[in-house]
Amino acid sequence: MPRPKILFQCQSCGYTAPKWLGKCPDCGSWNSFVEEERVTKLRSSETAVPVVLSEISHSKENRHSTEIKEFDRTLGGGVVPGSVVLIGGDPGIGKSTLLLQALKGLTKSGRVLYVSGEESPEQIKMRAERLHVKSSDIILLPETSLEGIISSAQDIKPQAVVIDSIQTIFSLELPSAPGSVSQIRECATKLMFFAKKYGIPLFLIGHVTKEGAIAGPRVLEHIVDTVLYFEGDKGGPFRILRAVKNRFGSANEIGVFEMTEYGLKEVDNPSQLFLAERPIDVPGSVVTASLEGTRPLLVEIQALACVSSFGIPRRTALGVDYNRVNLLIAVLDKRIGMHLGAMDIFVNVVGGLKVDEPAVDMAIIAAVASSFKNKAVDPATFVFGEVGLSGELRAISQAEMRIKEAAKLGFKRGLIPAGNISSLKGHDIEIIGVKNVQEALEILFF
Ligand code: TYD
Ligand code: MG
Repeated sequence: MPRPKILFQCQSCGYTAPKWLGKCPDCGSWNSFVEEERVTKLRSSETAVPVVLSEISHSKENRHSTEIKEFDRTLGGGVVPGSVVLIGGDPGIGKSTLLLQALKGLTKSGRVLYVSGEESPEQIKMRAERLHVKSSDIILLPETSLEGIISSAQDIKPQAVVIDSIQTIFSLELPSAPGSVSQIRECATKLMFFAKKYGIPLFLIGHVTKEGAIAGPRVLEHIVDTVLYFEGDKGGPFRILRAVKNRFGSANEIGVFEMTEYGLKEVDNPSQLFLAERPIDVPGSVVTASLEGTRPLLVEIQALACVSSFGIPRRTALGVDYNRVNLLIAVLDKRIGMHLGAMDIFVNVVGGLKVDEPAVDMAIIAAVASSFKNKAVDPATFVFGEVGLSGELRAISQAEMRIKEAAKLGFKRGLIPAGNISSLKGHDIEIIGVKNVQEALEILFF
């Protein structure tokens, strides 16, 4: 019997089934199945020749600069020729703006191509005027067919290509609609081969789903070399570019930008910025030193503990892991005897930042305790350390770097895990090593 030509494919994970399903058995998403045609043709690729590792001539990666320091750093030190970078983010967060500005920097080495399937050249021109981008080396291509894009790119021979966005591009060879899993996968793969073959850096803009993941199959993230997320509070001016995967640099690296009237501006000293509006002598505010990639960042953690007026108290965590906050509240309850069972507790990281390393545990505990006791923490003190379930403070990585950043910004005292003390060099500021949460809270609120 011939295999049926039609199959149903989950649009969020790529799972296929012979008939329509309401819920994907693989990823659990509802109503995500769409009818697609089976692709049976195997596409051949050029055969490669095996080479001996030691005989590969090592050309020192000649990265190109986008002239935006924060962007270059997030990429691991500039744009690598032939690399494929996927940038995801909410609509309106500034992805098109960022890439137009980055392209301007890349025109130094020649012509660049901006493919837009979403906006007309006039719209892009209007944006370019706002950004003062006037280069005659930026070529716009309002095209959505993959074959058209590749043939134009072969003619133009650009130094970099931006595809805005990958969801709008479709291949004429596939019958399914633009934005479907098979289209996205096919287009991304073909574009990737193109980029690698000609050594052209390629930027793909990707939409995100309501849950915040890049729309389309996870395979998209596997195909590309680097995945960046552009995030931030749309109401506020700050935007953070975060690397979550990077074959050419450290993942978790971040770049901080400010959205202004004339486009995105780099923020040189983000720690200072995130602490700029810090309330002094107000209970529930604690500063910690978090490490984002290779860069230490001082952030303010705020907490509010108030008596709940409902049967089930509320717990809200913004910018930190919700489960982590619950765990730390339990530690406070059991090990310190701070009864928070009837309290609503809100924890927030100032500036729309997300921190997800355990080193901020101690700051969350201190902020909650400070709000509960209604006693402010000394504004010149910072804390960091991972908290274990028995209330012990565990050593964390790169303590030295974090302390230096805090000292630079005028902090006078640091409470850090005792286990980190032996690895430190001398400091001008007072550093206190503490073994457990109890000890730390005694010092903070004696
Ligand atoms: P855009 O780059 O179009 O977002 P995306 O491509 O991620 O959907 O940015 C749109 C937002 O940025 C819009 O709300 C206006 C704002 N913006 C500025 O504030 N200043 C500027 O100079 C530009 C170009 C945009
Ligand atoms: Mg856009």
